[in-house]
Amino acid sequence: MTQDELKKMVAEAALEYVIPGTIIGIGTGSTANHFIDCLAGIKGRIDGAVASSNASAERLAAHGIRVLDLNSAGELSVYVDGADESNHHLHLIKGGGGALTREKIVAACADKFVCIADSSKLVDVLGAFPLPVEVIPMARSMVARELVKRGGQPVWREGFVTDNGNDILDVHNLDIMEPARLEQDLNNIPGVVTNGLFALRPADVLLLGTEDGVKKIT
Ligand code: 5RP
Repeated sequence: MTQDELKKMVAEAALEYVIPGTIIGIGTGSTANHFIDCLAGIKGRIDGAVASSNASAERLAAHGIRVLDLNSAGELSVYVDGADESNHHLHLIKGGGGALTREKIVAACADKFVCIADSSKLVDVLGAFPLPVEVIPMARSMVARELVKRGGQPVWREGFVTDNGNDILDVHNLDIMEPARLEQDLNNIPGVVTNGLFALRPADVLLLGTEDGVKKIT
């Protein structure tokens, strides 16, 4: 199976977590896109969706799925999203698509976070994928120096602007042995909006697409 077929398989499996009559949170990226496409088939069963990016909001709307603003939606029953990496504790690296801040906000409002990914995303130790950090543009160089002090090698994602109007630094070679501690530490650097570690609020369920079918990790 191709990587895309594995992503589609887990997206279909995630439909099981959709609770009828509720509002759900939707992630960003190619796996989340497959989930949106699957959701279109049962759109009459949900009250609507909150998107973690403009791109996902547009895709939902194109399918005729009601898109709500988070402020008017309140609590979400479930948040479904992909990841760039997951360890066995379901701590994640996210933000390859640059939507990490809104993803973290929407995930924080959900009763359950279901992560959907192909099997290449499961790792023993996070960090082979460079950690995305969203920064206020005027603080980019200052934050980059702070990241170097912590052993990372930040690379500015030049030409990319987040939905919030900010910059992204992709940080290579960080030592991520304690993801929750590092998540907190990096978020305390002035100018950092948030970083792509999802460890303080990890996923609750990981649906992993493998050659042998969907593997559920909790
Ligand atoms: C976007 C993300 C995505 O979930 C992550 O990049 C995985 O993407 P894909 O499903 O395309 O592999 O965090 O900001």
